[in-house]
Amino acid sequence: MKHRAIKRRNVVIGIGAAAGAAAVGGIALNAGAATASTTANGDSDLVFDPDAYTKLTTTVTDTEGTEHAVTYHFWKAITYVSKPVDATYQSLIVSAPVEIDGTAVDASNAPILLANSIGGYMPSSVADATGVGGGAMGGGGAPGGAPTGSAAPSASTSATSTSNANQNTNATGGATSSNQLLALAAGYVVIEPGARGRTLKNSAGEYYGTAPAAIVDLKAAVRYIKANKGRIPGNVERIVSAGTSAGGALSSLLGASGDSPLYDKLLEEIGAADASDAVFAVGAWCPITDLEHADGAYEWNWGTNALSTGKQVDQTVSKDLQSQFAEYQAKLRLRGLKGSGFGTLTARNYDEYLLKQYMEPSATTYLAALSDSDRETYLAKNTFITWDGEKAGFTWDGFLTHVGARKKTVPAFDAFDLSAGENNLFGAGTTQNRHFTAYGAKNDTTGIGSRRVASDIPEKLNLMNPMYHLVEKVNGKRSKHWWIRLGTNDTDTSHVISANLAARAENLGDEVNHLYYWDQGHGANTDPGDFITWIAKVTGYKKARTK
Ligand code: DHB
Repeated sequence: MKHRAIKRRNVVIGIGAAAGAAAVGGIALNAGAATASTTANGDSDLVFDPDAYTKLTTTVTDTEGTEHAVTYHFWKAITYVSKPVDATYQSLIVSAPVEIDGTAVDASNAPILLANSIGGYMPSSVADATGVGGGAMGGGGAPGGAPTGSAAPSASTSATSTSNANQNTNATGGATSSNQLLALAAGYVVIEPGARGRTLKNSAGEYYGTAPAAIVDLKAAVRYIKANKGRIPGNVERIVSAGTSAGGALSSLLGASGDSPLYDKLLEEIGAADASDAVFAVGAWCPITDLEHADGAYEWNWGTNALSTGKQVDQTVSKDLQSQFAEYQAKLRLRGLKGSGFGTLTARNYDEYLLKQYMEPSATTYLAALSDSDRETYLAKNTFITWDGEKAGFTWDGFLTHVGARKKTVPAFDAFDLSAGENNLFGAGTTQNRHFTAYGAKNDTTGIGSRRVASDIPEKLNLMNPMYHLVEKVNGKRSKHWWIRLGTNDTDTSHVISANLAARAENLGDEVNHLYYWDQGHGANTDPGDFITWIAKVTGYKKARTK
């Protein structure tokens, strides 16, 4: 595996033919992209103007270290709903390659990478983006703006997401790569949507970006794209959603909940285009999802790992939550992935399942790629691993000790003192933070509220949880292709969360590609080139090199 930096250099070299497009200081201004036509659905103000682009160039260094010159058409922020609550967030940008390494490219039927840059369930904006990868421009680097649960409550009220999302940090090489740039260099169309997030508050003190605003916005973005079939570049039937962490959760949810009528009213309220919101495939890195079960799953996984202070969390609370997880897991009736040899996954066999299906193969891949001397050094430092010349072996306890400190206190997501980012995610009206689990509400230490979850919470949980759409409902319009990735050292949530999502999708007959990156932490994406290749495979796309 090679980890190389993706360099980006945007140069404005031309202006699109559109009346109303102008360049100011290198930034293209799309003055409304007004046209007289309407979409097939009659949304006169949701018409994509194919001519309102700026022509840009960028240099993309691929995962082999080879540089590619890419010329692409760039459409600056377009509001994707007709009744925006806040257009700063409810807008998207479009990038379509026209020339790669001097050869003309026709991307009109190419897959569309729908890359969100949402982190921490915070607001995410592309309003000021001046080129591809614009969704991550405000932040860059690791997802520092993300909440870290009750261990580090996020009190931020105005910041835009600074998560890396699709702008992935490669901890091993210290390099940064981006799904967006690699996709563009592969000839795909890249669309980057912004979305409202949990901290947004209006002048009346009302939170307008809490659950389920972000998923409603992403769906509206998909509807905008599909309503503009034939006008917007790319094959709108081959949208591949991608995101990391909260963005990965929302990407999975977008895939799981495609065309669910449960969102119709909310979509209507913001003036979403009247079109399908189903996406073809999902890429999800370290998805922070299944939030109402995440506290139990977290304790099952990391319950005995101490915090970075060296302190253990309250073991009584941890045990309570673990038994809730056991009950939940039993109810799911999931089977291990094909070929795993595991039948029903339970709280009793899940450690062995994770070990055999994911952790040992992950360590094996890592060790096999090292030189003999590097491998020897690594094994001498990590004596919990046995290496038989071909395969790594270790115990679950050995693995837990190797990972070390847990990132979050207990409960990790529905904090008793309402200090977790997720408490804010489930805020509503003028209430910033609320409980969303019965256990959290019952053990509340803030003295506010009724010790029960509010009556609107159960429905909001469903609207936010891909598992709801895959288990309680089996949504036939879901994505049938799933790329799921997670670092083995990531303690932002339980390893079970991704593994359950993967197991459920595969149990339903979907194609699932799920791996854990050895020794990688939160937000890692160490095989972006493989993701790009996977997109070509699942969509059946062969790059069209000539117009
Ligand atoms: C993210 C990280 C978290 O630990 C969390 O609880 C929610 C979101 C993130 O990085 O997006």
